[in-house]
Parts: sequence; structure tokens; C-alpha cells
Amino acid sequence: MGMVFAVANQKGGVGKTMITLNLAGAYSHDDPSARVLVVDADSQNTSMRSSGVGEEPYPFVVTNMAAAGKGLGREISRMAQDYDLVLVDCPPSVDNLNTENVLQVANFVLIPMDASPSDAWSTQGMIQLVRRVIGPDPKRCGIVFNKVNTKRASYRDVSEVISEDSPYPVLKSVISMREVYKTAIGFGATVFSVKGQSTKQARQEITNVAMEMLGIMGISE
Ligand SMILES: Nc1ncnc2c1ncn2[C@@H]1O[C@H](COP(=O)(O)OP(=O)(O)O)[C@@H](O)[C@H]1O
Ligand SMILES: [Mg+2]
Repeated sequence: MGMVFAVANQKGGVGKTMITLNLAGAYSHDDPSARVLVVDADSQNTSMRSSGVGEEPYPFVVTNMAAAGKGLGREISRMAQDYDLVLVDCPPSVDNLNTENVLQVANFVLIPMDASPSDAWSTQGMIQLVRRVIGPDPKRCGIVFNKVNTKRASYRDVSEVISEDSPYPVLKSVISMREVYKTAIGFGATVFSVKGQSTKQARQEITNVAMEMLGIMGISE
């Protein structure tokens, strides 16, 4: 039975889809024999659509299950039997039952957020949902800052506020604002496969997040 990692936040545009696909790229790159599945649980279908546009297919499978309804969790568990790792790109709402259904079967939840005070509010709502469905186990959820400009003070302020309130850790690894994250997905690629662009730093950032998540879960490589 493969592990299930959910990437969730009720706010749209925080990078759920970008991070899900690039984490799938990172784990596939790290171990090319790993069977990795991306489940698109968002009816906007961004993950699913991007998987059709690349020159080369992704080194992982993408499937859309946004319409699975109440059976979504069960369906993901069933699929996880055939994969080593399942990454779920969740829809942007905590009211959407899809997110709750996914959390029920997730081994780990990654909550991406950008470092603005309004994002902190929506993230607190997401943290509460994880707490209610999964419990306060600090090995089961983590918060990652995306689109970070580390030189700006607001990032540290928001990070402190979130850390105080959350039973779950804020990852030390952060993801910067980089053009390549935007463009790669449009080409149906991840930063591990996109051609003709400088990807070294982006690859390093995503790999750091992927490995730190395993560390939080207590899985040594
Ligand atoms: N670190 C980043 N740097 C640059 N652009 C980013 C970054 N993260 C996300 N984006 C862009 O921001 C937009 C929203 O990201 P997306 O992954 O679709 O968010 P969500 O799935 O949470 O709605 C997309 O255009 C995406 O390419
Ligand atoms: Mg999305």
C-alpha cells in the first residue's frame, strides 16, 4: 500500500497544483522505479490538463477524480494499492467535501501558503480542518511557504504567527517566486524535466521540500 500525501489549502492560487506536480517530479527523479500517481481532486483539472501538453509524458501518472464525490477517499485508498506514492492536488475550499474525504485517507498533508497576512487567515482555517480530521499529530502535516522573497520581513512575521498557532511544523525549506515554476507546468513539464531553462535552484528547493516532508514523517530514506 503506497503512502498518500495531500497538498491542500482552501485558498486558490497558493501553488497546490504547481507543488503537487513538482513533488511528483522530485520523487520520480529521486527513484525512477517508484510508481507515483497524482490525483487531481480539483474540478478545475489543472494537473490533469497539464499532463497532456508536454513533449514527453510526465514520469508519473495523473488521474482526475474530482467527480468521485463521497467515494473519493475510498477510491484513493484503492488506487494506492497499485502505487508507491499518491499525491493529491486538493480543491481550493474547505467546504468542498473532496478535501475532507482526501484528508481521511492521507498519511501526510502539506499546506502551501504565501507569506501574506490574508493567507495566514485562510491557512488557519485549513489547519483547523486537518486538526479535526487527522488530529494534532505533528508528524502528519506541515506548512510550506511558497512564492517567498526571503528578503522581505513579512515572510518572517507571518511564519511566526503560523508557528505559534499550529500543532504542525512550518518547513524550513521554502519555495521562491521563480518564473520557471510558472512556465514548466504550461509546457506539461516539471522543473526536473523542462528544457532550455535554468532549473538548478528550483530543483534544489523542491527536493528540499520533498525530503523534509519525509523527515517530518520520520521516514528515513
Ligand atoms: N513559486 C512560484 N513562483 C512563480 N509562480 C508560481 C509559484 N507558485 C505558483 N505559481 C503560479 O501561481 C499560479 C497559481 O498556482 P497554482 O499551483 O495553480 O495554485 P493553486 O493550485 O493553489 O490554485 C500559477 O500560475 C502558478 O504557475
Ligand atoms: Mg490548483
